[in-house]
Amino acid sequence: MIHQTAFNNAAAQQSAERDAARTSHQPAANTVMPVELTVNGNIYRLSLDPRTTLLDALREHLHLTGTKKGCDHGQCGACTVHVNGRRVNACLSLAGTHAGDEITTIEGIGRPDALHPMQAAFVECDGYQCGYCTSGQIMSAVALLHEPVGRGDADVREAMSGNLCRCGAYRNIVAAIQCVRGQS
Ligand code: FES
Ligand code: FES
Repeated sequence: MIHQTAFNNAAAQQSAERDAARTSHQPAANTVMPVELTVNGNIYRLSLDPRTTLLDALREHLHLTGTKKGCDHGQCGACTVHVNGRRVNACLSLAGTHAGDEITTIEGIGRPDALHPMQAAFVECDGYQCGYCTSGQIMSAVALLHEPVGRGDADVREAMSGNLCRCGAYRNIVAAIQCVRGQS
C-alpha cells in the first residue's frame, strides 16, 4: 500500500514537471513587446502581447473600428486593410510583423465630406445592405484598381471572391466597382 502511494506521488510529480516543461515555451500572459505601427499616415507606439493580430491592434488598441471582425479566420474578408498598397486580411497577420509598413484602413481612404470614388460608388449603386462587410469590400475594391484584373464582371467577381457578403449584395458591389473602373 505504501509502495502504491509512493508510486502515485512520483507519477503525479512527473506529470506536473512535464506540464511545466510544456508550458514554459508559452509567453506569459502579461508579456508585452513594443510595436510601432504606421496607420493612415500616423505613427503609433504600442505595447502589445506578441500574439496580437493586426486586426485586434487596429480595433482594440487604436480604436479604428471601421475594420470589421467577421470570421477571425481569414475566410470572410471583413478585416481587409492595405499593407504597402496591397490588400491583406488583418486577422491573419501579427501586428508585430508590421514595423515600417504603411497600413491603410477604411478611415484612411476618405472622409464623410470627401469620399473616395469607390465609397461614393458603393453609395450610388446601393452596394450594401447591413454594411458589415462593406469596409472590407471597399478596401479590396480599391486595391483591385491596381491589380491585373480583366475587364468583365466575372473577372471582378473572381478578384473579389475573398470578400463575402451575407446580405448577398454582390450584384451591386460589382456594379459599383465597374463604375469606378469605367471612370479610369
Ligand atoms: Fe478576417 Fe474574416 S475577419 S477574414
Ligand atoms: Fe450585409 Fe454585406 S451588406 S454582409
